[in-house]
Amino acid sequence: MKKETVTLNDGNTMPVIGLGTSQLKGTQAKEVVARALKIGYRLIDTAVMYNNARQIGEAIKSSDVNRNELFIVTKLMPSQIPHGVTERLQDHLKELQLEYVDLLLIHWPPMDGNRIDMWQGLEGAQKQGLCRSIGVSNYDIEYLDEMLEEGTVRPAVNQIEFNPFVNQNQLFRYCLRRNIAVMAYSPLTRAHDLSYPLLERIAENHHKSTAQVLLRWSIATGAIPIPKATSAEHLQENWDAQMFNLTDSELDSLDHLVEYHYDRAEFLE
Ligand SMILES: NC(=O)c1ccc[n+]([C@@H]2O[C@H](COP(=O)([O-])OP(=O)(O)OC[C@H]3O[C@@H](n4cnc5c(N)ncnc54)[C@H](OP(=O)(O)O)[C@@H]3O)[C@@H](O)[C@H]2O)c1
Repeated sequence: MKKETVTLNDGNTMPVIGLGTSQLKGTQAKEVVARALKIGYRLIDTAVMYNNARQIGEAIKSSDVNRNELFIVTKLMPSQIPHGVTERLQDHLKELQLEYVDLLLIHWPPMDGNRIDMWQGLEGAQKQGLCRSIGVSNYDIEYLDEMLEEGTVRPAVNQIEFNPFVNQNQLFRYCLRRNIAVMAYSPLTRAHDLSYPLLERIAENHHKSTAQVLLRWSIATGAIPIPKATSAEHLQENWDAQMFNLTDSELDSLDHLVEYHYDRAEFLE
């Protein structure tokens, strides 16, 4: 079992790959999370909006994985935050049957209201021990700049859509330069581009699937992918994406799918 982790800017560590859980409903959510934990997944991405916290909590509770080995992520919607981060998070923690989450995110930036006040709400929840790390999701450079200038705690993570088919490289580079980890959602393009010829060629070189090539690219680039999968086969395949390497020229050709190039070594050394 591979156990690589990354260290966040607050000193906490996080696995390099996780499981996405949006669209997993009812008993399926419980079954999929239970299966993923057996395979070795330790990072589980959840959200209040996904409406499956109770089933995920049951899967965690009935697993034999120690709480301190898990990395549970959740997200509050901005509309919930003005009503009290602590109260809303405590309700959600009850559903998850957990005392704390490892990472609490604001699901997307509030367009109205005071973003800094909201961030301070997360800082408060962290101080109370309800979450170990705090971060954001879908934040662009302008909003991150604002937080870095006015917030007390630097976001540990920005969870954004990130795969070779979306041009988020400027934001990606901005985050890594400021030691904000990038958690990549939709790392498999929601399965839309898995038959892209370049991916198929690279996959053939390694006798791997195109999904594995995308996940391997994500990890090698320095992002933390959270693919959602339902079947046992997909869950295992995605987990195994940690166990092989792409060549520099393959990584470069995937980088060329979007217009912006950067020097990988600058971030990874
Ligand atoms: N912060 C945000 O705003 C935000 C937004 C979107 C998503 N997310 C998070 O990111 C997670 C992942 O993103 P996503 O669900 O949008 O897309 P994704 O992970 O890119 O793609 C999921 C799709 O890929 C399929 N799949 C998984 N493994 C596969 C494999 N090895 N081979 C072929 N197909 C495979 C899945 O099918 P099966 O399910 O049938 O296996 C599903 O249809 C979400 O579940 C959620 O936790 C966050």
